[in-house]
Amino acid sequence: MLQRLMQKISLRKISKVHDIDGWLSNNEALGLYSVAGKLNENAVVVEIGSWQGKSTYCIARGLKSGQVFAIDPFNAAGGGDTESEEQYKEKKGSKDLLKSFIHNMESRNVMDKIVVKKGYSYEFPHDFEKIDFLFIDGDHSIEGCKSDFELFSPRIVPGGYIAFHDFYEKRDELGSTWVIKNLVLPSPHYKFYRLFDSLWVAQKIS
Ligand SMILES: C[S@@+](CC[C@H](N)C(=O)[O-])C[C@H]1O[C@@H](n2cnc3c(N)ncnc32)[C@H](O)[C@@H]1O
Repeated sequence: MLQRLMQKISLRKISKVHDIDGWLSNNEALGLYSVAGKLNENAVVVEIGSWQGKSTYCIARGLKSGQVFAIDPFNAAGGGDTESEEQYKEKKGSKDLLKSFIHNMESRNVMDKIVVKKGYSYEFPHDFEKIDFLFIDGDHSIEGCKSDFELFSPRIVPGGYIAFHDFYEKRDELGSTWVIKNLVLPSPHYKFYRLFDSLWVAQKIS
């Protein structure tokens, strides 16, 4: 009961999330918002896979201060995940994804907390000396997700967070599930934090 009430109150803080196109459930949107809210001032958040900014908005709203670096080629790429790519292309239609992203962020007054990095994730890991929160939701193939984890996670500071979208216990063919089970959980550097529907979150401990 109390939990429901708290959820309702928090959802009001990200009330402008509902009409941004994307894949997040309410609970996942709140998960991103609440993890961002745990970060210190001047936090560096790296988001891989932004689409039209649904998750970016939730993270930006949660931050005390700092920036969300939104990495996406904004061309409906699926990387090694051809099934998703078909879906992205169909959903995108003739829309300019980067324009929609910027419009969505500006009209919700969060653009001042966002830096757009247009391109593929593997082009950018060296741009970050430290990361407080890494959110992986880009290429959902095992190879793509593994590469994102391997390139970016060494930059997460102890005490920082990592989150993956689309964790499904029985779907080992999905990049997120595979990486979590085979790389994150066996690692002594991470401890499980929370699961918000399919948003799986861990904290880096060392
Ligand atoms: C499922 S969507 C992301 C949804 C978004 N996080 C949201 O909440 O609405 C996946 C996105 O990842 C992007 N993408 C695919 N491969 C990528 C890569 N290697 N680097 C960065 N983005 C990638 C696609 O262009 C697409 O916009």
